[in-house]
Amino acid sequence: MTMTFTPFDKRGYPTRAVDAGYGEWAPTYEATVLDLMDLRLFERLSERASIDWGAPDRVVDLACGTGRIGAWLKRRGARAVDGVDLTPEMLTLAEEKGAYDALRQGDAGATGLDGGAYGVATMSLADEHIADLAPVYAEAARILSVSGRFILVGFHPHFLMMGVPTHYENAKGEPTSIESYIHLTSDHVAAAHAAGFRLEDMTEGVVDDAWIAAKPKWEQYRNHPVSFAFAWTKS
Ligand SMILES: C[S@@+](CC[C@H](N)C(=O)[O-])C[C@H]1O[C@@H](n2cnc3c(N)ncnc32)[C@H](O)[C@@H]1O
Repeated sequence: MTMTFTPFDKRGYPTRAVDAGYGEWAPTYEATVLDLMDLRLFERLSERASIDWGAPDRVVDLACGTGRIGAWLKRRGARAVDGVDLTPEMLTLAEEKGAYDALRQGDAGATGLDGGAYGVATMSLADEHIADLAPVYAEAARILSVSGRFILVGFHPHFLMMGVPTHYENAKGEPTSIESYIHLTSDHVAAAHAAGFRLEDMTEGVVDDAWIAAKPKWEQYRNHPVSFAFAWTKS
């Protein structure tokens, strides 16, 4: 069941479409997103699911944005990483980062990449912008090799349901949100199972001391789950 964010919205910021919003946010994106949101969960799953990022010939980073995940993958030993994203301004910054072997503009649900070409696929902090999860899981399954893994990390639906959207400050300093949808955990499980994945591991990140040190105003959210991560295996 896909729900739009609108009925949960407690902030009422003007809302932009994904490509327009990220096009505007791109120059300041990396200064505002906290690695605690997703990289901490990537690290945790890597350890628990014994993921050797250097093992596959190729890794693909769906919704790669400015390349934070690509750079992390390279630091963790990935040999060749390709990236796909909808927003040209984000891709320009990813290109400058030099972490990707190939980048293309496109939809995570219809990448046009070769089938069976990747040992691991990642997608971080993007599912809330995608109305229908089914094409994303189906596409990940299509481009992964047999027993390939799909690591999907997201902004927790609990936060969206508390009324806090993905947002940024535009060039005039006005808070602006980006079109979002709420996917329950069961929505992910249904889409993943339909695509032929089985769940290997899942973890969640909560607002803890490290978060509050970085964002003191988030004391009000202490112990609330703020992000989640799945490790799916193509079966
Ligand atoms: C919050 S950013 C995350 C970027 C990067 N994964 C990271 O963790 O820093 C969300 C990204 O998702 C991209 N995006 C949203 N919907 C998409 C879709 N359907 N297909 C491809 N990219 C998409 C946006 O363009 C944006 O670059």
